[in-house]
Amino acid sequence: MKRDNFATRLGLLAAAAGSAVGLGNIWKFPYITGKNGGAAFILVYLVCIVLIGVPVMLSEFALGRKTQANAVGAYKKLEPKKSWYLTGILSVLTAFIILSYYAIIAGWVFSYISKAITGKLTSIAPSALGDYFNGIISQTAQPLFWNFVVLAITAFVVIAGVKDGVEKYSKMLMPILFVLLIILMVRSVTLHGASKGLEFLFKPDFSQLTPASILEAVGHAFYSLSLGMGIIMTYGSYIKKEENLVSLSLQVTVLDTLVALMAGIVIFPAVFAYGLEPNSGPALIFVTLPAVFKSMPFGSFFATLFFALIAIAAITSTISLLEVVVACFTEQFSIERKKATILISIALFIVGIPSTLSFGVWSDVSIFGKSIFDAFDFLTSNIFLPFAGILVCIFVGWIWGSKNAAKEISSYGAFSFKLEKVYSFVVKVLAPVVIGMIFLYFTGIMDKLKSVGTMLPNIVLGVIGLLTIILALLHFKTENSNASEV
Ligand code: PHE
Repeated sequence: MKRDNFATRLGLLAAAAGSAVGLGNIWKFPYITGKNGGAAFILVYLVCIVLIGVPVMLSEFALGRKTQANAVGAYKKLEPKKSWYLTGILSVLTAFIILSYYAIIAGWVFSYISKAITGKLTSIAPSALGDYFNGIISQTAQPLFWNFVVLAITAFVVIAGVKDGVEKYSKMLMPILFVLLIILMVRSVTLHGASKGLEFLFKPDFSQLTPASILEAVGHAFYSLSLGMGIIMTYGSYIKKEENLVSLSLQVTVLDTLVALMAGIVIFPAVFAYGLEPNSGPALIFVTLPAVFKSMPFGSFFATLFFALIAIAAITSTISLLEVVVACFTEQFSIERKKATILISIALFIVGIPSTLSFGVWSDVSIFGKSIFDAFDFLTSNIFLPFAGILVCIFVGWIWGSKNAAKEISSYGAFSFKLEKVYSFVVKVLAPVVIGMIFLYFTGIMDKLKSVGTMLPNIVLGVIGLLTIILALLHFKTENSNASEV
């Protein structure tokens, strides 16, 4: 089967950045930044993105481009006899589950657009907005309808293929996203009292910064750059050999971070200008911001722009998630693209039903003390993602070999890759260890250990420290010998 490729560099960048830029940037990043000490957290986040995010992204791009295969096929090609392809299956499964609930939130955004256009949203009293939001998400038919709309749009793009679908629409949507962001940013910072919001976002408060903030920063860097779920790998497999992966990864990262910061500049000055609470968590965009738009002249107009912005960010991410699953099914089982996309989308809709209902009629159902939606989110974001992340690093660093990866990254010498040594140390030692720590903290394992015995977490940390040293020693030993060519 002939594989599709990205036709232009700009299209490739738009698609990869489109995947990275999503709800995580517009809603979560500003919120966790505020919570963790503003600019102090941004600094930590930037270090994490550069130190861990970029090397892991490079590894995924390299793996995809080297093998020219989907997330499962890539492992099979490089290690045919071993079970590493299970890592690929884990990634594809993660993409599938994330998409099943990500599309629900995107659906809420779409329903808000329809309500913003008609002026309904800005006609509601601020005090009633919380109930209004709960009223919407707890229904059965409406959220399912909007979920269907999101999946249908996503499927429409993916069916068209990489060049004529993913690339074409990303190239069209991403510039619109930036224009909307700029319009909204100008609106927000010119409001009376906006400076307090900028202060909230950018004034460093190192006292709020804890070791947990650092882990939160790495975790978010991973999620925000769409790592660990085979997306970057799959997109990598559609990249031509002449492309410079280092500059591509840096550009995607810069764009992703830029959008996150710009979203903060849109949200907080407006929230502060109208004297609202910046810490409302998930309700921030659905409850707090509509109150802001209500008080603003031409509020419906700006509300429509704002929710259109989020919808674009979300759709370019759902496209990338669906592409991972579709690429896997078309190539591993030789199913035609259109058929695979439709079947997978139907499956996604069905799997999404319990999550949707968990905000309404099934709100009492709980799995390990969490609602169905939260359980899916926890399972994928806190368990599958870090786990897959560690495995990708180990595979690229130790099995395929960072030297081989570095050759692919430099397009076999066509580009210089000056930081190869640093890259190699990060994928082989630093990234697996740090991601492993995230796993221990975010799954609650550390807390459990603490409740069993207060010394236990320290012992575990000691073991991790020891392991790090062993890995580092091994790394430096293999660094001096020659890796086998793959
Ligand atoms: N990177 C996206 C965001 O920041 C989220 C995402 C996660 C997209 C996983 C695709 C896959 O919102």
